[in-house]
Amino acid sequence: MKQYVIHGGKPLSGEVFISGAKNAAASILPGAMLINGICQISNVPRISDVKLTIEIMERLGARVKYIDAETIEVDGRAVQPGTVPQELGSQMRASHFFIGSMLGRFGRAHVSLPGGCGLGARPIDQHLKGFAQMGACNRIEDGMLQVSIPGSQTDEESGNEGKGKLKGARIRFDMVTVGATMNLMLAAALAKGTTVLENAAREPHIVDLAGFLNAMGGDVSGAGTNTITINGVSSLKGGEYRLIPDQIETGTYMAAAAAAGGDVSLKGVIPQHMEYISSVLSAMGMEIEEGSDFIVVRKSNRLKGTDITTMPYPGFPTDMQPQIAAVLCLAEGRSTVRESIWEDRFRYAEQLCRMGADIKVEGRVAVIEGVSKLYGAEVEAYDLRAGAALVIAALAAVGTTKIKHVNYIERGYHDMVGKLSRLGADIYVEE
Ligand code: EPZ
Repeated sequence: MKQYVIHGGKPLSGEVFISGAKNAAASILPGAMLINGICQISNVPRISDVKLTIEIMERLGARVKYIDAETIEVDGRAVQPGTVPQELGSQMRASHFFIGSMLGRFGRAHVSLPGGCGLGARPIDQHLKGFAQMGACNRIEDGMLQVSIPGSQTDEESGNEGKGKLKGARIRFDMVTVGATMNLMLAAALAKGTTVLENAAREPHIVDLAGFLNAMGGDVSGAGTNTITINGVSSLKGGEYRLIPDQIETGTYMAAAAAAGGDVSLKGVIPQHMEYISSVLSAMGMEIEEGSDFIVVRKSNRLKGTDITTMPYPGFPTDMQPQIAAVLCLAEGRSTVRESIWEDRFRYAEQLCRMGADIKVEGRVAVIEGVSKLYGAEVEAYDLRAGAALVIAALAAVGTTKIKHVNYIERGYHDMVGKLSRLGADIYVEE
């Protein structure tokens, strides 16, 4: 069982290079399966979720090879409508994007029901409702989901495009959902006619998926607003695309500097994506300087507490909620954190309390009384961002912290130990 060991109390300084966006790769890599050709995707983060996604792509017949450390070439010409088995699909939530891409290209998809971090119920009713509006039926049995167009055939059998194709539709989501927005964009790219997604999510990784589809010959407009229009095209020809930097990894290192103190330059970022997070940290007392593709954060005095409510983009991201809570544990005064997206995203709080934090969770609100010190302890990560929150607390804590189940952290953060070590943190991996 691998764990991180952190001797806290050392301020951070220097440069950290932000990797490509995990939640952009989550939908863009499955999106490459739509292409009956070859594409190159760069700035792909080397994280375990990407490794698993590539394994699924290859299982479906794609040929994937690394051109360099962060660039992959995907040849989708031999992709066949196959099965995403449970041993692969149930390990992460993002496996459901293979439904949109395989349904979009072949008129059918057979995918294990998704897994992923335990944040409460994670239904996919909005995805299935959208697919149904485009003419697909779905059937769930033995943990597998079969979505298909009645009478659909593969490209080869049908002999021509059109038969067994989804039909464009006007789809209005009942709530803002990142996953369903991206999944329906994937399904609509090759559909017959126009699809309009209303009440669509606006996250940066949704704009990135639209950019990818258009670079491959697709016709998507309105991404980043709450109405996205996709005109189906007959085929996607392939091309090159570079993923955006990871907004949440950027925010995580900003939070690490906010907790541990110091002076950190984050390189290869898009400051505009960080606006809300930067405004919160600056209001708490951090010094923040922005350039075209970098952000410098400095913290020397104790920060002031504040109140946070997570919202869909451009609000405060739910995926930064555990990390900012860790920072608030050491800030002056009372803070509150309201989680409006997920029903069960405070499980990390008990772990922070083991380190001396004062957090009381009442339903979807955590009330935090700032303390002057946290103390090293043995703790465990329950999910990706909860693990990141424990690392942040450990960097600021007095003494040694050991964090178990760091495999969760490595699902979404490339080389966190190396990046933090280069910033002066005393952190290492203990097998
Ligand atoms: C994506 O999850 C991200 N994961 C999550 O990041 C992130 O927390 C979430 O979006 C919100 O930003 C990936 O992109 C792989 P949703 P997703 O569909 O798509 C409800 C991380 O840490 N809902 O936007 O699953 C749902 O229950 C992960 O990187 C339905 O009710 O989230 C939730 O309350 C954790 N029915 C809300 O909508 C549906 O069909 C938002 O979910 C779909 C969603």
